[in-house]
Amino acid sequence: MTLVESINRIFRKIPTGPLYVLGFVPAAVYLYWGITNQLGADPVARLERQLGEWALQLLILSLLVTPLRNRFNLNLIKFRRPLGLFAFYYVVLHLLAYLLLDKQLEWEPIIKDITKRPYIIVGVVALLAMIPLALTSNNWMIRKLGPVKWRRLHKLAYLIVPLGAAHYLLLVKAWPLEPIVYCLVAALLVGYRFVTLRGRVFA
Ligand code: HEM
Repeated sequence: MTLVESINRIFRKIPTGPLYVLGFVPAAVYLYWGITNQLGADPVARLERQLGEWALQLLILSLLVTPLRNRFNLNLIKFRRPLGLFAFYYVVLHLLAYLLLDKQLEWEPIIKDITKRPYIIVGVVALLAMIPLALTSNNWMIRKLGPVKWRRLHKLAYLIVPLGAAHYLLLVKAWPLEPIVYCLVAALLVGYRFVTLRGRVFA
């Protein structure tokens, strides 16, 4: 048995049910650290940023599933839905941290941000694009839409990841490595998908 086959065998045995609970652990840990003053000098900014970063990382992981299967026969398909759903939950928590803790529901600065700050505008577009994906990530909607329409709709993920990475890059003043790495990873994933769709990679 090859290494990939062994890994697939191990992953096949892992049930996805507990992942729907485990996924909330990082958010709960950050919340606990926040309540117990363990998030440094600016706990709100730290919490807000960490939630955004988790969302982006989970989205990237969900998009990695297909290339890993196509290129390396690694079958992680059953983890794609929880990864995508948790990316959405984390974006919602990120938004709640922004609205409730950062802006304290003061609508004037919020509206100013949404209309004037490019990184917020990009974030809002990414979040809006995630809503139809989250709403259709259940068996009933998959059946209702049919596999062709469902797959077409879920290609939106290839827009959301670059938007999330651009949102991060636009908010930083200098050129730190992290958002640049996210942008490169997003470009690679979209590039791979584009090439595969055009039939140049026979995976
Ligand atoms: C309504 C939509 C959104 C709003 C209002 C929003 C707002 C913000 C704000 C205020 C920050 C922190 C800026 C700062 O500290 O100066 C931030 C950072 C960030 N956001 Fe968002 N965001 C939104 C959507 C998204 C989405 C859809 C993603 C990912 C897919 C995302 C990922 C991130 C990341 C990765 C960071 C930077 C984290 C870090 O510095 O480590 N955000 N966002």
